[in-house]
Order: sequence, then C-alpha cells, then structure tokens
Amino acid sequence: MTMTKEEILKAHHFRHATKEFDPSKTISDDDFEFILETGRLSPSSFSSEPWRFVVVQNEELRNKIKNISYGAASKLPEASHFVIILSRTAMDMRYDSAYQKEQQSKAVPKERLTRHLEIYEEFQRNDFKLLDHERFLIDWGIKQTYIPLANMMTAAAQIGIDSCPIEGFDIEKMNTLLNEEGLLEDGHFTISVMIAFGYRKKDPGPRIRLPFEDVVKWVK
Ligand SMILES: Cc1cc2nc3c(=O)[nH]c(=O)nc-3n(C[C@H](O)[C@H](O)[C@H](O)COP(=O)(O)O)c2cc1C
Repeated sequence: MTMTKEEILKAHHFRHATKEFDPSKTISDDDFEFILETGRLSPSSFSSEPWRFVVVQNEELRNKIKNISYGAASKLPEASHFVIILSRTAMDMRYDSAYQKEQQSKAVPKERLTRHLEIYEEFQRNDFKLLDHERFLIDWGIKQTYIPLANMMTAAAQIGIDSCPIEGFDIEKMNTLLNEEGLLEDGHFTISVMIAFGYRKKDPGPRIRLPFEDVVKWVK
C-alpha cells in the first residue's frame, strides 16, 4: 500500500486547528467510523491501549462541556462530531493491575508472561519512575492517547475533514462533569483531550512553524 508523498504532505498542509465549523455540513457515518478506526489502530507503550473515545452528539452534554471549556466554546455546538478522549487512571496503568495483566497476556506468549511482567515493573518503577507519583502514571497513559489524537486528525485531513484538538479546559471540572454523566467508570478513566471534527467555515490564517533547520538536528 503506497500513497504519494505529495498526497500525504497535502493532507498535513490542509490540516489546521479549525476554529469555526460549518454547521450545515455533517460527516458521514462511514467517514467518521474510518477516523475512529485509525484511532483504535494506534500503537501504545506496552500495548497499554489506555484510551476510550466518547463521541458526544448529545446537545445537552455538548452545552455543559461548552460552559466549562474555553478551548471548545467556538467549536461547539457547530462541529459535526465531537470526541472526548479518555485515558485510564493509575489503577489501570500500573503493571500489576488486572487491566494491564490482561493486556500483556494478549501481547506475549504465556511462557514469557512472568518475565515480561517483571520487565514491565522495572520499566515503570526504575526506568521511567512512573510509580513515584500517581500523577506520573496518569500522565503516561495520557501521553499514549495523543497518538490516536494525531492519527485521527491526520486521517480526517486525508479525506478532507477538518478538526481541532482541545486542551482548553479545567481537568478537575471536566472530570466532575464526566463523572456525573457516568462516563468515567468509577474512576477508571480521566479526561485526556478532546477533538472537534467537521468542515471549516473559512480558510485558515498563515501557518506558523519553526524553520526545518531549527527542529531537525542530524548527528552523523
Ligand atoms: C494538544 C493540543 C491542544 C490544543 N487545544 C486547543 C484548544 O483548546 N482550542 C483551540 O482553539 N486550539 C487548540 N489547539 C490548537 C493549537 O493552538 C494549534 O494546533 C497550533 O496553534 C498550530 O496551529 P495549526 O494546528 O492550525 O497548524 C490545541 C492543539 C493541540 C495539539
């Protein structure tokens, strides 16, 4: 399977953080499932797959989110589709949690599982020091969720669909709301980041990027 470099770069130039969506345009079910599928297929460290994609099409909940998210305010309610990416909390991210053991047992053969879990513990405890603070484990899970975030935005752009990633909210307030809505499964999930999808209302402004030489360093 190959795509031309020109086509791929075109999609990356097309993608921009869309500030306003055209309310008259709706993404088809088929296109939106395709976008979600690229999120699902994303890689994660130790196959932890800590994400859940909550597609919020309910107007009442969209309004509640809008009220506590300055970053989403101009995109809601006009975005065609709105996704909250949840991430598993420390209780599911620890190497010895039931969830991680289950994930590891799918990823490695049975005879290697015990050794693999020791390596996993070593990684979390010593290499990345994730067990020093609950927040480190949570943030490690959240880090993984930015991979599907990027993949879904790129995939959308490749089929001509716009998006905007959203971190403009208070985590505590958002978690309180999502918990009240029964979406955090008794503390197993936390908000990570959100994405609005749809079609742009107007063309974006100029692209702001550091020069290539400033972001790429070769060591030969
Ligand atoms: C993780 C993340 C969170 C962001 N949060 C917001 C947000 O809450 N609201 C917003 O309008 N833009 C948000 N942005 C968009 C960025 O400001 C934008 O991507 C950046 O300025 C580069 O512009 P471009 O994406 O149009 O190239 C976010 C981007 C990322 C990657």
